[in-house]
Amino acid sequence: MTQIDPSKPVMVTGATGYVANWLVKKLLDEGLTVHAAVRNPDNQQKVAHLNEIAANSKGSIHYFKSDLLAPGSYAEAMQGCELVFHTASPFITDIKDPQKDLIDPAVKGTQNVLETANNTPSVKRVVVTSSCAAIYTDAIDCQNAPNGTLTEDLWNTTASLEYQPYSYSKTLAEQKAWEMAEAQSQWDLVTVNPCFVMGPALNAKATFSESLSILKQLGDGTMKMGAPKMGVGVVDVRDVAEAHFKAGFTPAAKGRYITAGHNTDFLEMGTVLLPKYGDQYPLPKKALPKWLLMLVGPMTNKLFTRRFIKNNVNHPWKADNSKIKNDLGMSFRPLQTTMEDAFQTLIDANILTAK
Ligand SMILES: NC(=O)c1ccc[n+]([C@@H]2O[C@H](COP(=O)([O-])OP(=O)(O)OC[C@H]3O[C@@H](n4cnc5c(N)ncnc54)[C@H](OP(=O)(O)O)[C@@H]3O)[C@@H](O)[C@H]2O)c1
Repeated sequence: MTQIDPSKPVMVTGATGYVANWLVKKLLDEGLTVHAAVRNPDNQQKVAHLNEIAANSKGSIHYFKSDLLAPGSYAEAMQGCELVFHTASPFITDIKDPQKDLIDPAVKGTQNVLETANNTPSVKRVVVTSSCAAIYTDAIDCQNAPNGTLTEDLWNTTASLEYQPYSYSKTLAEQKAWEMAEAQSQWDLVTVNPCFVMGPALNAKATFSESLSILKQLGDGTMKMGAPKMGVGVVDVRDVAEAHFKAGFTPAAKGRYITAGHNTDFLEMGTVLLPKYGDQYPLPKKALPKWLLMLVGPMTNKLFTRRFIKNNVNHPWKADNSKIKNDLGMSFRPLQTTMEDAFQTLIDANILTAK
């Protein structure tokens, strides 16, 4: 049981990110003092909206310059905090060197943040943003799981430096976090493991999360001929923020939490948008046949290797979200609300324009 004093500051690494923005908003709305550890506190494009949220909330925000690969750079931000949210980690698919671009910042960054927690006596709990990617790589892994369902008991064993290195980076980073948590007794670790995060962005123009670039492809004509029926889990970004908050402040929170709202697929993510946006935007209406994807996929997108298509297209995704519902009292927004609110963000930011 870990009781967090809400009058003490709370630290958020990567506060400028798509997911962390909503967590920071939630913390500020609850009247907390947020220590925002970011790469560049002077980048107004990335912090101005957070300052505006803080100005209209009961809480306050203070920035600290930190980098995952700079040992000790989180020490000042962590001073006096009982609760640390570690969200920072690269979520990118356009990578040249997976070790340098993904694995090092994810794993060494986690080690850096947790070593600082070990050296900061006020810290009682660390909530790490892991991912369902630390549990599985491809939708076919669900079928191979006991009862065809992903649970917190499972670990990703199929990602590697060569295949789905982002998933590999999240797996190694979470494993490092548990290893370090078990080696000490000052703080406890809770991990939030979201599936694919969707929903509105608080700062769409300056947020580069892969979530938003995939959403953009649903509406910019890239998929007007159809979308792959690729099994995926979807969760609303606002629900992910709520899950972090509950993971931080629920004394009995423990272990890993699959944070997944819907067992769905990529095509359905597009078709739920049709009633509201189908007349104006070239959304996908049908599934692209697997044989066609196998033929042309590898030429159009370097992520779409034959192995990836074989293991994901026409394979349903299924995860058990009962632990987070039972332990933390979480409920999840409807898929349609999540997708519509997300799509509207890109329209409002002029990232998507009507046909
Ligand atoms: N989006 C999803 O579908 C999803 C699903 C499951 C888990 N997650 C996890 O959620 C977390 C946030 O992802 P997101 O979707 O919000 O992506 P995002 O918007 O790209 O946020 C990533 C954050 O990490 C920071 N970061 C990256 N490299 C860094 C470095 N070397 N030093 C310091 N900070 C660094 C970024 O800082 P800058 O702003 O300075 O670039 C940014 O704040 C990640 O841990 C991700 O793995 C995301």
